[in-house]
Amino acid sequence: MKMDDAIKKLHDLREKAKLGGGEERIAKQHEAGKLTARERIGILVDKDTFQEFDAFVTHRIYDFNMQEKKILGDGVITGVGKVNGRDIAIFSQDFTSFGGTLSETFGSKVIKIMELAMKMGIPVIGLNDSGGARIQEGVVSLASYADIFWHNTQASGVIPQISAIMGPCAGGAVYSPALTDFVFMVKGTSYMFITGPEVVKTVTHEQVSFDDLGGAQIHASKSGVAHFTAENDKECLLNIRKLLSYLPLNNLEDPPRIESDDDPNREDEELNKIIPDEENKAYVMKDVILHIVDHDSFFEVHKDYAQNIIVGFARLDGQVVGIIAQEPSVMAGVLDIHSSLKGGRFIRFCDAFNIPIITFEDVPGFLPGTLQEHGGIIKHGAKLLYAYCEANVPKITVITRKSYGGAYCVLGSKQVRADINLAWPSAELAVMGPEGAVNIIYRKEISEAKDPKQTRQQLIDEYREKFANPYVAASRGYVDDIIEPKKTRKELIKYLKLLDTKRDKLPPKKHGNIPL
Ligand code: HXC
Repeated sequence: MKMDDAIKKLHDLREKAKLGGGEERIAKQHEAGKLTARERIGILVDKDTFQEFDAFVTHRIYDFNMQEKKILGDGVITGVGKVNGRDIAIFSQDFTSFGGTLSETFGSKVIKIMELAMKMGIPVIGLNDSGGARIQEGVVSLASYADIFWHNTQASGVIPQISAIMGPCAGGAVYSPALTDFVFMVKGTSYMFITGPEVVKTVTHEQVSFDDLGGAQIHASKSGVAHFTAENDKECLLNIRKLLSYLPLNNLEDPPRIESDDDPNREDEELNKIIPDEENKAYVMKDVILHIVDHDSFFEVHKDYAQNIIVGFARLDGQVVGIIAQEPSVMAGVLDIHSSLKGGRFIRFCDAFNIPIITFEDVPGFLPGTLQEHGGIIKHGAKLLYAYCEANVPKITVITRKSYGGAYCVLGSKQVRADINLAWPSAELAVMGPEGAVNIIYRKEISEAKDPKQTRQQLIDEYREKFANPYVAASRGYVDDIIEPKKTRKELIKYLKLLDTKRDKLPPKKHGNIPL
């Protein structure tokens, strides 16, 4: 073939590959309110940076007359690109081509890109929109899924893995996203479930819609499977770009630092007034965070799930930190099963990727009740504790008010090896709050007193004076310093800089045994 003809053929094939399953199916995709796999990549990466691999791959199946139906790319677009100038690897499932279903060759393409990402130390972003296992390929398709799960697990803690669910994601196919670090979902067009509404109806006689079973809002607020939701594909992809701006490319790098225009020495008088005088009155911890971190830098993760705890990324003088805080305005900031899981998982991500952990603590303790006990708060709370103990990135804890009981120990205490522990003057570090403590240790005295009510109040005041303050802990060195709230930002920045050279290693082991 003459070179001119050969080049023309190449261009023609490339153009054909770009059309995936064809114009009709592309129009259907748009009608469903979804972008195509290629349009999604176009938004995700910096302009003109996408380099596609394997555009000419087709399946190798002859059963079901499949040799008559071949589509270039075979249902997934893979390649590398840049986000804010940094490399990422991408696979984007193409619903217009065999419903984005996974064949052997499709699986090989995804695995190739994952292996490349591992070798290069760059994040993998998977955009999911698929009917699942390609039925015509049978167990070969299942084997490819299993191979991807294995690669997800190998990559875990080495490179960030981010999944976006932008269409169907059902059956065992959910487990690849579930193994990744962050899951995004698009409202209205995406769903994730192990078995769909029809099977649910047959087995349990429940009637439930796609959205109520596995839509974005359900997974973001109830199951916690999704970390982020978006109104549409574009918003979802732009949010992935934003998340990436806080992450290192791999576990051997630090997260990117930027120049901040927020004064590192900024003091904030509002913080001195934020804790209410009445001890059982709530305040909004998110406000505390926003007053302290660099302007507009707080990026909340799992915003709609277990809102009694807050987790998210932020910057302090341009340095990325992971924030964990109780929210006293939601269930008094109590620790329960869901908040333990949410906090523990976030800490482990930060620790794996060299992101210092800042804890703002105001917690009345663990939530009592049969629902919690029978649900396993013991083992789930232990996950949060394990995560704090295991993490050896810089850890700074600020106790704003209550630090009671087991929650004192768990939430970044000195003894779980937080590096710097600071307390506001309003902090109360004790086994429990004054009322509960007095009821237990002075039960007899109160019941025998002439005026039990007055005696009780007197004992509460005494207890508060003696124990419900930060000075007992400070006298033991359990807190390193007591600081004025308004100075928290500059104190944190100062200590973060000090901890920049922190070195700490876990004892050699295959892996620990986190109480799953
Ligand atoms: C092969 C499939 C397919 C599948 C869809 N298609 N699912 N081809 N294997 N699993 C094809 C359709 O034939 C159609 O081809 C195109 O994809 C689009 O599908 P439609 O049904 O027209 O689209 P829509 O009405 O939007 O419905 C999408 C859907 C539905 C909800 C995903 O197709 C569906 O229910 N599919 C089956 C899903 C499923 O049961 N998958 C296996 C799950 S178990 P044409 O040529 O007409 O465009 C699983 C296990 C994973 O995945 C393994 C983990 C270990």
